[in-house]
Amino acid sequence: MAEGGARAATARRLGETLRGDAWWAETIPVVLVLGAFGLYATLRAFEGKYYEWGPYLSPFYSPLIDEHHHWWKLSPALLILGGPLGFRATCYYYRKAYYRAFFLDPPACAVGESRGNYKGETAFPFILQNVHRYFLYFAILFLVFLWKDAIQAFFFQGHFGVGIGTLVLLVNIILLSTYTLSCHSLRHLAGGKLDCFSCASFGKSRYSTWRWLSVLNERHMLFAWMSLFSVGLADFYVRLVSSGAIQDVRLF
Ligand code: FES
Repeated sequence: MAEGGARAATARRLGETLRGDAWWAETIPVVLVLGAFGLYATLRAFEGKYYEWGPYLSPFYSPLIDEHHHWWKLSPALLILGGPLGFRATCYYYRKAYYRAFFLDPPACAVGESRGNYKGETAFPFILQNVHRYFLYFAILFLVFLWKDAIQAFFFQGHFGVGIGTLVLLVNIILLSTYTLSCHSLRHLAGGKLDCFSCASFGKSRYSTWRWLSVLNERHMLFAWMSLFSVGLADFYVRLVSSGAIQDVRLF
């Protein structure tokens, strides 16, 4: 086994491997889902309309800045897109997924790649992925706005109520929160970088926070996909209602 693994690791030609399983199968859904989401999100970001209805605001457009185009003539989504996009694009999990699926660099564990001078993220341009920890701060700020939107979705012209859109936005912000709270950088910040909790300031509370975040962190890949679906579906729902394609159903 160890010998087979070592020989596979020295494979040089693209796709060359001693692995007998269908290692390529996991790249297909990544290409399809990430590709479709990227295309949809780009079209929606540039569309610049059908992003709000009643108390609902699409997460692609939140926070809504210069809605009436006083100084920004293009879609308001373009003003804020960099935050969530940068956070996802530099996410440790997504990096692994799209390096494999789109760049085949490497295609999978113990599978040959196209070039022999692979430097990973130790050289330009991928070394820039280290900015992920800073995008985390933006992501936390975005969560505040999106929670505000989700709470606002309970109030129809000043009266409390629940529509399908309310639930869609609520589920979305819960999933986005679990995705952000399960971030590797946040776990590191809370306590992952410490060798000794009892020697550090606030060691006890940092230890319990780190443990809670670790539970979420173990499921980071799951939250990454679920929140990707939910944010796309939430925007799609608001678009459908806002454009008049469907009517929102008030549950009470
Ligand atoms: S590692 Fe995925 S969001 Fe931070």
